[in-house]
Amino acid sequence: MPRLQRVPEANVEYAYGIYLLNTKHRLIKTLRKRYQPSIHGHRTWGSSFVLMDYLTHNGIRRGVKGMEVGCGWGPASVFCAREFKAKMTAVDLDSAVFPFVDVLAELNAVNVKTRKADFTKLKKADLADQQYLIGSDICFWDSLVKPLARLVNRALSAGVKRVIITDPGRPTFYEFCDMMAQKHDARLQEWYAIEPERFEGEVIDIRAK
Ligand SMILES: C[S@@+](CC[C@H](N)C(=O)[O-])C[C@H]1O[C@@H](n2cnc3c(N)ncnc32)[C@H](O)[C@@H]1O
Repeated sequence: MPRLQRVPEANVEYAYGIYLLNTKHRLIKTLRKRYQPSIHGHRTWGSSFVLMDYLTHNGIRRGVKGMEVGCGWGPASVFCAREFKAKMTAVDLDSAVFPFVDVLAELNAVNVKTRKADFTKLKKADLADQQYLIGSDICFWDSLVKPLARLVNRALSAGVKRVIITDPGRPTFYEFCDMMAQKHDARLQEWYAIEPERFEGEVIDIRAK
């Protein structure tokens, strides 16, 4: 069982060594008046905790460069920056998510760079200096399956060491995993998080063959 961590005020949560704000927190309510993410990036999703738990057990090297695609509020980036001192870039197509990333990074005293980009359009040159590519709950439409697979292919051929993606278990994600298994050294596992509560999902850990 994890050590009990008292939180400083209501609507603050603690999971995997980072503080998070839930949607009822006054700061989040204020941000939401001004910024309304519109592609599902309006909260922290359970798959991001599954990713944090997986990385806790199958971690990344300290101080590496990593990119999170489809970051939403960026909890996984903040976790990697905090836990592994990773130099994270959080990418999202929807720039309305970035004020939430900034608040979360500030709350946890880490730096996370943000970049507005369509991850399906990231080029090899954008990926070449990254060692890790991560994502949680980013394969939720049919139209994302092939473009995400192509992104991973480009990342691995650009020299990215590992790509780790979690998902609640959507058919679109399994379709993506099948594509990865045909081409790369891809390990798909069921996984669960226990903080801030139990979430179940799937994780694929992909390396070049
Ligand atoms: C379901 S949310 C997951 C957010 C975060 N990863 C989490 O687990 O809390 C999906 C995120 O992917 C972003 N997204 C969707 N399509 C994208 C694309 N083509 N390029 C970049 N970001 C995208 C959305 O804006 C949204 O923030």
